[in-house]
Amino acid sequence: LVSLSLILSACGTSKTGGDGGKKTLRVVTDAAYAPFEYQDKGEVVGFDIDFVKAVAKEAGYPVKVEHVGWDPVFIEIEGKTADIGVSSITITPKRIQTYDFTVPYFLSKNEILVPKGSPIKSAKDLEGKKIAVQNGTTGQEAVEKLFGENNDKLKKFDNNNLAILELKKGGVDAVVADNTVIETYVKNNPKDDFVFIEDDGTFEKEFYGLLLPKGSKLKAELDKAVNKLLDNGTYEKLYEKWFKI
Ligand code: ARG
Repeated sequence: LVSLSLILSACGTSKTGGDGGKKTLRVVTDAAYAPFEYQDKGEVVGFDIDFVKAVAKEAGYPVKVEHVGWDPVFIEIEGKTADIGVSSITITPKRIQTYDFTVPYFLSKNEILVPKGSPIKSAKDLEGKKIAVQNGTTGQEAVEKLFGENNDKLKKFDNNNLAILELKKGGVDAVVADNTVIETYVKNNPKDDFVFIEDDGTFEKEFYGLLLPKGSKLKAELDKAVNKLLDNGTYEKLYEKWFKI
């Protein structure tokens, strides 16, 4: 007599149910960075969200995406209470000491947002001005690199929407954040009368990756899936959906 558990394990379904045996991945994000991740009627949506779902699907994993906020993304990945962090996260030398990343999937750069008519016309004009950034981002790093770390004019916010709100209220003179996010904001909020400052080579090229716990066993599978989507037209379709002008 062949036991039922033997049959089930031969099918690869004994421990994890009938979905092919792969566990649901917990994906965490800071959904305040449109068009990459934001909330629409309580739902977490955006390019990154579609992208991470497609990557997981390609690798054969169900996912559950949860908005937890920016700092918690890093805390959860370091503590391994989540499997993937997706949040327009730049692969930086500092972060790779603590985390793993997938292969890069998006090219970005910091950019400056100012009210129309502002005297700030380039990055060097930011000197001595009040600047808002999201705490713990490459935007903060970039400003500190230009003007030093003890810059009392640098105001740090928990999320980028709060930084932009401060500019709206006139509490700061500029916001520094990722170019696609700044340009999307300008386009979607014409009444605010904000403009972005054209790239003059001050800020460095950055690449986004999916954030993984150091030593994550998923890395090889997810890298393979990302490369596949870059190759097979899926990435292009998502890109067009979210960034087509
Ligand atoms: N790319 C920048 C960084 O990695 C900013 C990302 C902010 N993302 C977010 N969802 N708020 O530091």
